[in-house]
Amino acid sequence: MKGVVLAGGTGSRLHPLTQITNKHLLPIYDRPMISHGIEALVKAGVSEIMLITGGTHAGEFLRLLGDGAEFGIARLFYAYQAKPGGIAEALRLAERFAAGDRTVVLLADNIFGRSLRPCVDAFAAQAAGARVVLSHETDREHLRHLGVAKLNGSRRIERIVEKPSDPPSDFAVTGAYFYDQTVWEVLPNLKPSGRGELEITDVNNWYVERDLMEYDVLDGFWGDAGESIEAYYAVNDFVRNHGANRDR
Ligand code: G1P
Repeated sequence: MKGVVLAGGTGSRLHPLTQITNKHLLPIYDRPMISHGIEALVKAGVSEIMLITGGTHAGEFLRLLGDGAEFGIARLFYAYQAKPGGIAEALRLAERFAAGDRTVVLLADNIFGRSLRPCVDAFAAQAAGARVVLSHETDREHLRHLGVAKLNGSRRIERIVEKPSDPPSDFAVTGAYFYDQTVWEVLPNLKPSGRGELEITDVNNWYVERDLMEYDVLDGFWGDAGESIEAYYAVNDFVRNHGANRDR
């Protein structure tokens, strides 16, 4: 399985911290945010990774990660997104790297308390399609800033609603996505959303509509450190006290 780490975007929700650096280079406790994302994939058994970034600080990722050997990466590739156009648009840059294999996509501002290995293993055992990782969030206001899964009974996702004003469940869609090779045919046909971006939620709903989407529900901590300054510090506090990507 190939790994794609998305570390672009403008980081506008963390201004002014992100006026002088890329969001994913800001510290989460004892190391730059991106290191936790890379570690999440490596600990889950993914060792061929492409990092996609953009903007004016792309060179710093090379200084930090180099060829990836220090992080246990067998092959590390880089791609540059010329202008921010959404998660799904950034993912298109990984096509030549990942085509022919399955892919796990990780938003590098998403920090997980526990290892993603069980999800990677579950996707490896899945016949085809895609997989998302859900997190139980009871704060309805928080859910309005995320993708939220509408569940049909307890087994299937009926729809994923992006930034819902009326969240259809308590299950947020985290930024860890698993796709089979079909994703490369889905991406070129997406239309920009209201915020002018190609949305990963539209990719996920393509699979949902064809009954090809499965999911896991996390039993540990999850935080999106890019969501707000408050969220950024909540994630820092958690990682400082408990660490990230821990084995069960
Ligand atoms: C993105 C996705 C959203 C998901 C979130 C997780 O939102 O669009 O569905 O819940 O990541 O971090 P964004 O951070 O681009 O607003």
